[in-house]
Amino acid sequence: MKTALVCGAGGFIGSHMVKRLKNEGYWVKGVDLKYPEFSPTEADDFMIGDLRDMDVCNRAVDRKFDEIYQFAADMGGAGFVFTGENDADIMHNSVMCNINMMDVAYKRNAGRIFYSSSACIYPERNQMDALHPTTSEDSAYPAGPDSDYGWEKLFSERMYMAYHRNKGLDVRIARFHNIFGPEGTWEGGREKSPAAFCRKVAETPDGGTIEMWGDGNQTRSFLYIDECLEGVRRLMSQDAFMGPVNIGSDEMISINGLAGMVMEIAGKNLDIKHIPGPLGVVGRNSDNRLIKEKLGWAPNWPLSKGMALTYRWINEQVQEKNK
Ligand code: NAD
Ligand code: GDD
Repeated sequence: MKTALVCGAGGFIGSHMVKRLKNEGYWVKGVDLKYPEFSPTEADDFMIGDLRDMDVCNRAVDRKFDEIYQFAADMGGAGFVFTGENDADIMHNSVMCNINMMDVAYKRNAGRIFYSSSACIYPERNQMDALHPTTSEDSAYPAGPDSDYGWEKLFSERMYMAYHRNKGLDVRIARFHNIFGPEGTWEGGREKSPAAFCRKVAETPDGGTIEMWGDGNQTRSFLYIDECLEGVRRLMSQDAFMGPVNIGSDEMISINGLAGMVMEIAGKNLDIKHIPGPLGVVGRNSDNRLIKEKLGWAPNWPLSKGMALTYRWINEQVQEKNK
């Protein structure tokens, strides 16, 4: 039976990855500061621990796992990573998890390790045009991310690649583009725009008004969780290509368009009040040429399919909270 360690197994992507690996027949250990918020973990063993502490990392890697998935990070949507107020914590906390985990993985001769980088590593200068952003993997340098979150991700990518070159650590790296779905953070300040608009629409009676940061002409693409997991598993299950590679959708949409899609799914007609807020880059879309070339696959679900599933789940959370 194959074994895997999932770091950040109490979070959105990590908890879904635990389920996916269990479905594939793995023995899975999870580690996180907390248990998953919305459903019990399916991990065979779950350790509560802080990966900034090397002792915890040593106890987490208590055997030679076939695979390690490193999702642990201090992260959130635009309201958390682009305000500037959390930069020190984001950089310190996330880099400590990465430094420790890659060193323990190497020293304990653990198996292949996956690192979840981000579209936020791409230079701001290539994402100033809402309709024509550039995110090909080779456009990462000269570097110029617009956030310290992005700089930490880029530094950690480099550190994983250096461990690969100098010490032979078996590494796979993906740059995720805004992953969403059920059981993701939907309130509290760390939620990303798909969850934020599902919540706002669910909370607002037909004919009411919701708020949106910026003019709504900024663009993004959003990837449903199941497709993210599929991409990660495909990257981990082959020997020829380590990345970094984009794992994202190439269905670009404006934030106004995203809000409109949620209203349509909910069957509500709401006004949008545009207010100042943390915006991030003007435009972003996933360039999927490299993933198609290297893995012979790319995500292909229409955004509306994943958004319908996500709205249904967030609407349930909102109704439950209102009881
Ligand atoms: P998440 O916040 O839901 O999960 C991260 C988990 O890491 C949390 O459960 C948190 O408690 C845990 N964690 C943080 N610090 C820790 C520590 N010191 N010790 C142990 N656990 C710790 O985020 P997510 O959406 O599941 O993201 C997973 C990974 O993917 C992160 O590295 C994130 O930066 C990256 N990523 C996510 C997206 C996205 O859209 N969700 C996009 C790009 C990159
Ligand atoms: N979260 C949120 N909430 N965003 C809003 C809102 C709102 O109420 N109103 C408008 N927006 C706008 C933001 O200003 C931003 O321009 C856009 O919606 C997208 O915001 P997010 O979905 O929060 O984040 P992002 O796409 O800019 O960045 C996220 O994705 C990266 C990977 O692609 C972040 O989660 C990063 O941490 C992540 O790495």
